[in-house]
Amino acid sequence: MMSMTCHNIDFGTRVLDLVAVGSSSNASIERHSVKSHGKTFTSKFYGARRMICSRQDISRTRVFSTNTSEALLDGVGERTAPVLDSKKEAKMPISLANLFEVVADDLQTLNQNLHSIVGAENPVLMSAAEQIFGAGGKRMRPALVFLVSRATAELAGLKGLTTEHRRLAEIIEMIHTASLIHDDVLDESDMRRGKETVHQQYGTRVAILAGDFMFAQSSWYLANLENIEVIKLISQVIKDFASGEIKQASSLFDCDVELEEYLLKSYYKTASLIAASTKGAAIFSGADRGVTEQMYEFGKNLGLSFQVVDDILDFTQSAEQLGKPAGSDLAKGNLTAPVIFALEKEPKLREIIESEFCETGSLDKAIELVKQCGGIERAQELAKEKADLAIKNLQCLPKSNFRFALQDMVVFNLERID
Ligand code: IPE
Ligand code: IPE
Ligand code: MG
Ligand code: MG
Repeated sequence: MMSMTCHNIDFGTRVLDLVAVGSSSNASIERHSVKSHGKTFTSKFYGARRMICSRQDISRTRVFSTNTSEALLDGVGERTAPVLDSKKEAKMPISLANLFEVVADDLQTLNQNLHSIVGAENPVLMSAAEQIFGAGGKRMRPALVFLVSRATAELAGLKGLTTEHRRLAEIIEMIHTASLIHDDVLDESDMRRGKETVHQQYGTRVAILAGDFMFAQSSWYLANLENIEVIKLISQVIKDFASGEIKQASSLFDCDVELEEYLLKSYYKTASLIAASTKGAAIFSGADRGVTEQMYEFGKNLGLSFQVVDDILDFTQSAEQLGKPAGSDLAKGNLTAPVIFALEKEPKLREIIESEFCETGSLDKAIELVKQCGGIERAQELAKEKADLAIKNLQCLPKSNFRFALQDMVVFNLERID
């Protein structure tokens, strides 16, 4: 929350393991192996798009038969699967609509509930909430809650989603939206989800209050779930947002920032919530500790991959494509993965960044240098590395359409930078 004070913040030890999971800055292209393939499948088994996670020693990509549901359910990870040359297959991007098809009804119910939950007590907050929820958003986090819930329910003998699963998804989306409202104030961004931001439309005070209200509202719903493990998990996330934003604000234009610090900040800002979403869903399914921990790791690795991709897109896409301002990270001194990698190669870049772009044209020059010396490509490799780990984390789940959809989400994220 915006009003959180510094003495609460622990930059500490809880997530230090995350920076040690193979994000070495000199990783070679051959090491990365998450690939997607263009076979689309017209039945409800949309997950037939083959998601392959090959290992370092496998130079060709394994592709599985997609003709039957049995093949689909048996195929992933089997060593006996046929080997095809991935380059021969036409690639077709995954669409969000297809990706979420197996939880489309769950998402529809979520959207209805979000509108009735938020801001019902105050007309101004109601309008602000309507503005941001009505603007859309990918609903990636609640979709993850639904997919993990359904993928793990079977392990515990559950037939489907419980009330707790559904409420968890609503809480997560509320927290995410609150963090975006506050983030847009901090970043002075005037566009979000293709529309004017809350602070742009209603002023900063309403935006802060609307964000606080949504954090508080979600905490109330969280407490009412009466599961102490999930309460601890999610309340930590709310603290992590503030840690991430403060960490970012205190290292602007700092060319000595290291990849590990960037990953830690990205964990606080983004991966922590996604990890809590996937772990929380598994907890409410009654999954055992081994599975809940793997789901946490899955969410963390997907979240890190997602943030790295987002940071690449800030360099490569237009505001229109993004639905939010583009090219603003570097301009504001927020040095993300592409810049951190480029700084290793190009000393001139440091000079320009440290001058805080006081000379006309120097920002464009810096962006050019980042692109020229392979910053984008190396960041792509980092995103793929985290994606590979995320795919491996899913191996503890029984094979199902929900597990395939989770795999596809990892691929979808990477395809945003193709
Ligand atoms: C945006 O998240 C914030 C980041 C973590 C980069 P999303 O891209 O999931 O935002 P919406 O919900 O789809 O608008
Ligand atoms: C988004 O961070 C906010 C959080 C993850 C809390 P950014 O500032 O990096 O992302 P956009 O570009 O505004 O979505
Ligand atoms: Mg922002
Ligand atoms: Mg920000």
